[in-house]
Amino acid sequence: MISLSYRNTDENIIGAENGLNVQQEFANYREQIANIITNLNKRKDKPGQWLQWMNLGYNEETVWYVKEYAAMVQGRFDNVLVLGIGGSALGGMAVTEALLKPYWNLLTEEQRNGLPKIFFLDNIDPDSICGLLNILDLKRTLVNVVTKSGSTAETMAQFMIVKNLLEKELGDNYRYNIVATTDKKTGVLRQIAEQEGYKTFVVPDDVGGRFSVFSAVGLLPFALVGLDIDEIMNGIKDMDLALKNTDINENIAAQNALIHYLMDIKKGKNLSVMMPYSSRLKYVSDWYVQLWAESLGKNKDKLGNDIHIGPTPIKALGATDQHSQIQLYNEGPNNKLINFIRVKEFDNTLEIPNIFEYTGIGYLGGKTINRLINAEADATRVALTDYNRPTVTITIDKINGYNIAQLLYMLEIQTAIAGELYNIDAFNQPGVEQAKNYTYALMGRAGYEDSAQTLQEKMAAV
Ligand code: PA5
Repeated sequence: MISLSYRNTDENIIGAENGLNVQQEFANYREQIANIITNLNKRKDKPGQWLQWMNLGYNEETVWYVKEYAAMVQGRFDNVLVLGIGGSALGGMAVTEALLKPYWNLLTEEQRNGLPKIFFLDNIDPDSICGLLNILDLKRTLVNVVTKSGSTAETMAQFMIVKNLLEKELGDNYRYNIVATTDKKTGVLRQIAEQEGYKTFVVPDDVGGRFSVFSAVGLLPFALVGLDIDEIMNGIKDMDLALKNTDINENIAAQNALIHYLMDIKKGKNLSVMMPYSSRLKYVSDWYVQLWAESLGKNKDKLGNDIHIGPTPIKALGATDQHSQIQLYNEGPNNKLINFIRVKEFDNTLEIPNIFEYTGIGYLGGKTINRLINAEADATRVALTDYNRPTVTITIDKINGYNIAQLLYMLEIQTAIAGELYNIDAFNQPGVEQAKNYTYALMGRAGYEDSAQTLQEKMAAV
């Protein structure tokens, strides 16, 4: 249901200076890619490899428990409030935005079929937190706190605020309005959940935040708002099967990974723009930005050599950003590879009425908005090609659970393969941890006193 067109990265189309001899490169890397795919699939079950996300499509047990809980609480809550940040929020945001009816939270209860509204609090801006808490009836809100480490400052600060308010409103019964998704054994949230008796779900071992969307991290919120989890799981499984194919000519994740890698190292195009032509896929770009940036931005290769590599991901939205970023992409530095996502069939067909005959706009009358958005995607792609700018196009037949799961899983595998090509560890994030540790030090967490002292000195100096 998903296809990839890489034609416009070829030297025959955009010239040898900017383009690749794609078929030749596929042949050159054929064996290496086959080894990478075989090894990823061999390593995925080994502890410590951080590849358990490759098994999530088959995790029937979690699916069962998530559905059971969602069915049990159905009708009890008007809102689901997800507290989490980074990988603990972005996948949920991307999938719910794509699959729920647009403007879900503005629909009436009847229009939502009695299902709750959903809010993601993924920042610690006091104004937006207060704003949201002012409009939510907490008694009718199920709070899903999501943190693998169980101690991320942003999430736990939000949680402490919300838990306090819930307890004031509901007394001892507050615990039934909380469901925690966290590590099965470790972390402060796990301790709290056990002491206070919250319902919990597990972020599985060896699944990093940015690869956790198809664990309970994402599946629970999806089930709570009535998304079809089975359809999502089928999409992952079918894509997983397709991407086990070790032949690069048959494997779209390997193709896009290799093209990105070669465009970076051979052609100096180390910016990767993700530009879906669908507002419903807006947060897929945010999710991709984190996936690509945290996975591939590394200072050491696997042998410990200093490398400081990583393509910089950029989010864009078609057609909106044609009026914001495309000028730069067409005429500025030729250092980007643009990923278009094109949707063939939208849920709605919207005709533009034939009400004006002015030359400048009359041509629009009688056409559909659907045709216009896809014409704009085509026009932008062709214009970029005229300027010898490489683009790839991922085409989805339709936005549904099956296809969205396929798209996200394909991008995850693509990221893992790209990590292997760069010869880096795509599954750690020491750069994130460092800033987290500095925050703990600044906020006075026990055990971080030395860092706090050094940090105060550094801050005074700059
Ligand atoms: O991908 C990652 O590992 C990070 O973005 C984490 O998801 C993020 O830092 C939140 O961490 P945690 O889930 O431990 O609260």
